[in-house]
Formats: sequence, C-alpha cells, structure tokens
Amino acid sequence: MSEPSSRVTKTKSTLRGVTPAILPSLLLCDFANLEREVRRLEEAGVECLHLDVMDGNFVPNISYGMPIVDALRKITDLLLDVHLMISDPVKFAPQFVDFGADLITFHIEALKQPVNLLSQLRSQGVAAGLAINPSTSMEALAPFVDECDLVLVMSVEAGFGGQAFNPVALGRLSDLRKEHGADLLLEVDGGVNETTVGQCTAHGADLLVVGSAIFRQADYCQAMTRLRREMHK
Ligand code: DX5
Ligand code: ZN
Repeated sequence: MSEPSSRVTKTKSTLRGVTPAILPSLLLCDFANLEREVRRLEEAGVECLHLDVMDGNFVPNISYGMPIVDALRKITDLLLDVHLMISDPVKFAPQFVDFGADLITFHIEALKQPVNLLSQLRSQGVAAGLAINPSTSMEALAPFVDECDLVLVMSVEAGFGGQAFNPVALGRLSDLRKEHGADLLLEVDGGVNETTVGQCTAHGADLLVVGSAIFRQADYCQAMTRLRREMHK
C-alpha cells in the first residue's frame, strides 16, 4: 500500500478512537433543513456522516453530488464519508476530495482495476476504500484489500435506503477481519438497525451506516442511544 498522507493517518486514528461508530446516512434526511439536521446529529454525538452519491447509471436512482458535500463541509467539522455509487469514479472521485470529503469509497463493480485511484485519493489526503455489493463475489475484491484504508461491505444491493439486511455481509466482515487484521476499517451499509447492528459489530464491523433507523425516528438522540446500546451487546 502507498504511504498514507498525514491527513489520512489522522482521519483513521480519529475514527479508531470512536469505533464502533454509527454513521448516519443522510439519504432520508430533511434536505429542506439540512443544517438543522446536521445540528441534531451533532447533538446526538455523531462523529462522521455517510453521504450516498448515486448517478442514476451505476444504480437505478439519483441522490445528490458535490454541492451537498460542499455545503456540509462549510457547516460542520464532522468527518464526511462519501460512498460513491457511480459508474465513473476515476473522473469524479478526485472532485469530492476538493469539496471536503475525508473518506471515499467507490465500488469494485464500477472499477475492476482500482489501485491507481485508491493511491491517488490517499495521496490527496483522503482515506480510500472499496465497496462491494452482496451479489458480487469477494474474489473480485480480494486482490485489492491491502490497498484500502477501509472496505465497505454492502448488506443490501446499493441504490436505495430502507431495504432488508442481507446476512451474507456478516461472514464477509469476519473473513475480512480474520484475513487482514485490526488495522483495516470495516464498514457495513444497508438495513442496519437495532436488530441487526449487534451482529455487525460482533462480526467485526467498525463503521455502521444507518439511514432509516435514524431518520424515520422523531428523536435522533434516542435512536442513536438505542443503536449504541444494541451495538455493544
Ligand atoms: C444504499 C445506501 C445506504 C442506505 C442506508 O444504497 O448506500 O447508505 O441509504 O439506508 P438504510 O439504513 O435505510 O438501509
Ligand atoms: Zn451508503
């Protein structure tokens, strides 16, 4: 793996200090009141926001892009974790660095030879990783894991919030932890809620992305408290 920049080292050690951590996915938040949503999450003790970028091509849905990342960077010091569900990460990922991303993952299904982009992002100061859908064989990812700061194990097919958790993610998390040791950050995304979060941490997940189980609740603080309690069981 290429030498990380000092900013990458700092991002990883900040995260390591708080893992396991719940990362709210803003996909289902109230975009008409974005700043208020961020303040509510800060008050609930969130450390890092998960931002789902969808291009309507790699996945059959469009979410948001650079302007939202830029706007968030201007109003918060929380770490920004950008999950790119886009067909052309080579073209667009570096732009998300300029707009303030701290971590970026892109999909192995979108870029079969990801080493150059991973090392480019790391040299730009961003912790970089690969995401993999449940339907994709882990063999596609295996040769590149040592080039990653983090691996995002999807527990739903990328594209939509509110889907049911696919337990295939659990075995993948524990295999990755066993094979690659404690330094690799493991993230899980999709269908993580009070029922599934404990299994994810028990199988080695560090970063737990949660959308509907926070944003469909009236009180984010209470939702975070319940998720944290279940995560540590
Ligand atoms: C799915 C996204 C997820 C998703 C999480 O493509 O990457 O981040 O929005 O939402 P829930 O927790 O509702 O599955
Ligand atoms: Zn995501």
